[in-house]
Amino acid sequence: MARWRVGGEKEETERHIGLLKLVQILSFLVVFVAGIIIGLATSSHINHYFTSQAEFYFSRNFQIALPPVGGGVGANCNVVPHCEKVDCLNMETFLRPKNLTHGMTDNEIFWRASLLPNKEEYPFDRVPKVAFMFLTRGPLPFLPLWERFFKGHDNYFSIYVHALPGYQLNVSEDSPFYWRQIPSQTVEWGTVTLADAERRLLANALLDFSNERFVLLSESCIPVYNFRTVYKYLIGSEHSFVDSYDDQSRYGRGRYNRKMLPDIKLYQWRKGSQWFEIHRTLAVYLVSDSKYYTLFKRYCKPACYPDEHYIPTFLNMFHGSLNANRSVTWVDWSMGGPHPALYGKANITEDFIQSIRNNETQCAYNSEVTSVCYLFARKFAPSALEPLLNLTSTVMEF
Ligand SMILES: *[C@@H]1O[C@H](CO)[C@@H](O)[C@H](O)[C@H]1NC(C)=O
Ligand SMILES: *[C@@H]1O[C@H](CO)[C@@H](O)[C@H](O)[C@H]1NC(C)=O
Ligand SMILES: *[C@@H]1O[C@H](CO)[C@@H](O)[C@H](O)[C@H]1NC(C)=O
Ligand SMILES: *[C@@H]1O[C@H](CO)[C@@H](O)[C@H](O)[C@H]1NC(C)=O
Ligand SMILES: *[C@@H]1O[C@H](CO)[C@@H](O)[C@H](O)[C@H]1NC(C)=O
Ligand SMILES: *[C@@H]1O[C@H](CO)[C@@H](O)[C@H](O)[C@H]1NC(C)=O
Repeated sequence: MARWRVGGEKEETERHIGLLKLVQILSFLVVFVAGIIIGLATSSHINHYFTSQAEFYFSRNFQIALPPVGGGVGANCNVVPHCEKVDCLNMETFLRPKNLTHGMTDNEIFWRASLLPNKEEYPFDRVPKVAFMFLTRGPLPFLPLWERFFKGHDNYFSIYVHALPGYQLNVSEDSPFYWRQIPSQTVEWGTVTLADAERRLLANALLDFSNERFVLLSESCIPVYNFRTVYKYLIGSEHSFVDSYDDQSRYGRGRYNRKMLPDIKLYQWRKGSQWFEIHRTLAVYLVSDSKYYTLFKRYCKPACYPDEHYIPTFLNMFHGSLNANRSVTWVDWSMGGPHPALYGKANITEDFIQSIRNNETQCAYNSEVTSVCYLFARKFAPSALEPLLNLTSTVMEF
């Protein structure tokens, strides 16, 4: 406080302070006005953004309000550089993506696929579809059989193919498999990348809001009933068909890792074949889960196989009542060993296929009992194609 002692100095200091205050007030004013201007600009931007989003989600007349230009409805937005020219937010593209090519990462597409409509009614005529998801390394040897199976049922199914990256399925333009490959990643059998591929297929298929049921199939799977029967069976079922059981041996509980505690307990641990069939509700739960998936990724490594345990255990813990706990894909483990029996040309007879269609066991279906337990079967070698094609009309009825 030394300067207050001398009069002149004090006066000068007071003048100084007065000036300083003026400058302070002025600068406050400047900042305040600038703030208002920035605020106004931003909020109009946000308003604009929300208005366009709201229009997209809530206005049925959006397509009328903004008539499509150029390619029009269903135009491929991925290759159209400017959305001002094409109605990229049209309902058709949103509900039923035509082109399965996209640049989304797994995290991005899982998030998108987890979005649920809150409104019960659909603003369009929704015909439930079955999504057939083929997890394959490369070629599909039973393509001609499947093509025959799907023929004439266009509005009731969607196909998704996850092949190894770089593999291009070569099919003609009139095939239902034409351009149905999803962006894929490397899959190493026995590792978590297999479970990743299954979830990737689910996420891609979930983007089509009409898909109601989701079947996972391999290149060695065949249908044993016709499309009509398969469709009715799956769409009409109150349960999903995921094989799930408590195997007390070292091949079941033996693969459990205590490090999963306290989130997963030993008594909750389940095992089951990876070839599932699930309802849309469960598909959304599966792509939405990060917590349990992460535990499996971290602690389920060979001789623990995530594809045999993750889905059965997760469903058992949270959605057990929605699961039939059995698979609709027939397989023959009777030979023993680590791989199921493989059926080739010499093994295909009318009686054999008939025994899969009705193998004298009874299965629970909704609250009834049925002799139809299996809709699909594995494993078949490519050589089985020709005799199988010969049996479609007489045995499989398609
Ligand atoms: C799908 O999109 C990709 C890239 O965005 C493009 O290369 C391809 O031609 C499109 N396919 C069809 C059938 O439109
Ligand atoms: C795709 O199939 C057609 C007809 O079956 C054949 O002519 C063509 O060479 C094949 N293309 C590739 C890349 O394999
Ligand atoms: C399947 O198992 C669950 C337990 O995870 C059980 O709650 C459910 O009732 C079973 N489903 C059927 C159809 O029995
Ligand atoms: C298929 O047929 C061959 C030749 O008859 C036979 O050796 C083989 O055991 C059969 N495979 C199965 C799984 O029945
Ligand atoms: C029916 O199939 C199941 C599953 O593959 C098998 O365990 C059972 O033995 C079969 N029954 C007959 C009569 O073939
Ligand atoms: C399939 O049917 C055709 C014509 O009926 C017959 O010539 C052929 O031998 C059959 N193939 C097999 C593998 O049964």
